[in-house]
Amino acid sequence: MPALTTDPGASHTAVLGIGSYRPSLVVPNADIVDAIDSSDEWIQQRSGIRQRRRAADHETVPMMAVAASRQALERAGLDARQVDCVVVATVSHLLQTPSAATAVAHELGTDRAAAFDISAACAGFCHGVALADSLVRSGSARHVLVIGVERLSDMTDTTDRGTAFLFADGAGAVVIGPSDTPGIGPVVWGSDGEQYDLIRSISTEDPRLTMQGRAVFRWASFEMAKIAQQALDRAGVRAEDLDCFIPHQANNRITDTMVRAMKLPSSVRVARDIVDAGNTSAASIPLALDRMIADGDARSGDTALLIAFGAGLAYAAQVIVLP
Ligand code: UT7
Repeated sequence: MPALTTDPGASHTAVLGIGSYRPSLVVPNADIVDAIDSSDEWIQQRSGIRQRRRAADHETVPMMAVAASRQALERAGLDARQVDCVVVATVSHLLQTPSAATAVAHELGTDRAAAFDISAACAGFCHGVALADSLVRSGSARHVLVIGVERLSDMTDTTDRGTAFLFADGAGAVVIGPSDTPGIGPVVWGSDGEQYDLIRSISTEDPRLTMQGRAVFRWASFEMAKIAQQALDRAGVRAEDLDCFIPHQANNRITDTMVRAMKLPSSVRVARDIVDAGNTSAASIPLALDRMIADGDARSGDTALLIAFGAGLAYAAQVIVLP
């Protein structure tokens, strides 16, 4: 048997650039409360959300993904032709096939980059980061674009009290490539299929999201802090040395519970983008990260703990070093 030749990959990887796209329609709580017999106070108290962004007609899943990606590439100092692989994490690209990623790769002007979507719901972005890290270290790709993008307004029942105020639209992207020093820690990920039905879409004709909010809330609050702690331990980072905590922006009360359970010191800056962005599923972590950088709460060289969780129930966490 002849020995196969294999490609040596990079020893280390890092996030090289971050970008985001916030769609144009700003929707305050006041605009949605009547349809769900709710109030601004209830929504802010129970979730932290004050307003959210929703996409206008022209702000499609590929359009928002391309806009976020262009920004990430520009900040990384890379040209689209240097991207070999495009991974789009989304649950709201409503075409079963082809993927959104192939359209994004083409629109960006990549040189026929490999492109595919992944379905891990709100955990999709961290799954994509883990995948990209492995692809670059294995030699399968050199620069990978990982995009979290959602247009959940297409799938949200505006009269459903449990979801109408929560879900929103947006996109965030990172470019991952080779690095001289380790910039992406080991992923801690998994799934809890026993709770497969807690968040799901119904009907393929006119998909609508349903969620057993209380059960998801309990699971996320108590189980996810353990996963986040494991990601810190696997990366060899102590809580007191962590700079930023960027959990999936599911609910500010879930974030609070995790911060307490992990006993994160007050020096750790915590993402609170949900207040103005709502829960954007796969887009929430890169959107929150980009916001923290813009606000000066996160800086180049900082260590940031990411943890994402949602439908499936699927979850993934890792520590990254910010570009
Ligand atoms: O991103 C994917 C992962 N998703 C999540 O992590 C979301 C997890 N779940 C949650 O964030 C929360 O469950 C929600 C924010 C969705 C809901 O908050 P909650 O504190 O779990 O509310 P609840 O469903 O336990 O309802 C509490 C009370 C009930 O009244 P009673 O029975 O206590 O009298 C509900 O009828 O609030 C009532 N209620 C509302 N009141 C005003 C439920 N929805 C609403 C509403 N407005 N929209």
